[in-house]
Amino acid sequence: MEKFDPDFALFGILTASLLPGIEIGDAVVDYANESSMRLYGELRGKTIGEIIYEVAGEKKAAQEFVYKLGEGMPITLEGRLNKRYVKFHSTIVRYCLDDSCGTHRFIQAGIMDITESVVLKKLLYGTSEALKRAATAADEDTGHHVTRINLYSGKFAELLKLDENFIDDIGNYAQLHDIGKIKVADLVRLPRKLSAEEFAEVQKHTVYGAEIVAGLDGLEMARDIALDHHEKWDGSGYPNGKKGEDISLAGRIVAMADVFDALVSVRPYKPSFTYGHAYKIMTIGDDRVKPDHFDPELYKIFVNNYEHFTMMHKKMHD
Ligand SMILES: [Fe+2]
Repeated sequence: MEKFDPDFALFGILTASLLPGIEIGDAVVDYANESSMRLYGELRGKTIGEIIYEVAGEKKAAQEFVYKLGEGMPITLEGRLNKRYVKFHSTIVRYCLDDSCGTHRFIQAGIMDITESVVLKKLLYGTSEALKRAATAADEDTGHHVTRINLYSGKFAELLKLDENFIDDIGNYAQLHDIGKIKVADLVRLPRKLSAEEFAEVQKHTVYGAEIVAGLDGLEMARDIALDHHEKWDGSGYPNGKKGEDISLAGRIVAMADVFDALVSVRPYKPSFTYGHAYKIMTIGDDRVKPDHFDPELYKIFVNNYEHFTMMHKKMHD
């Protein structure tokens, strides 16, 4: 009970207040605390409609809320919630009209579950952001590169129709693909061509990156991305020469995003290419890039949606 975020007591007020025959007060007190009681006090004089409107922030959202609640559908609330009492949006996973099933507690349990996962995600994404900042501080040349990789990768996941969690995760963890460069920063900054030995050491940024986030709950995808983002579909990549679906899906997505961004951006070893030229290289190939390097399904999506990716680059170029 103590773990329940006071801000989310608002959901208790909303759900309980819509149960037929139950006084709002009775339902709320059961899992209220100081903050929710204060809030309840503020909202007490209002009608249910007004409270929903207050929470949802606009009429259409309020109507949708009532409809979904009536249908027992999952509800996600956003909008003014963030600016007022509730810090994160939440989903009410279960709505039960039958009082005999311990409705109040049941609803609360559902909300708690989602609340915790939302809070956890927020903390993990914050960790990802902090790691990214640490890594980019050591490698200032990357500019907006890492942020763009987040955007492209999220778009890929969206176009692949992957679930929302995957889309959010890859959109927040793709930026950690080169986190391991922090261990080879001196080599990466050298203004000359690297020796074969030095280059082999730089390639280990994949393994170093995976080690940095290894064994941390919730950061498994970040680990996959760091380790696999230079693997190639045909097995010619590094560090493990993985082939096809042995490469994690997140790794395959970020690999493609990373190659595209490198082509259309300036690198110490090359100028930035035009979008047309980059397209040609990715579809025909050159001495470094071959179409066989990419997951064919992703490749198809990339080619069919090339404009999306060029627009993202245009919006956030260095
Ligand atoms: Fe890399």
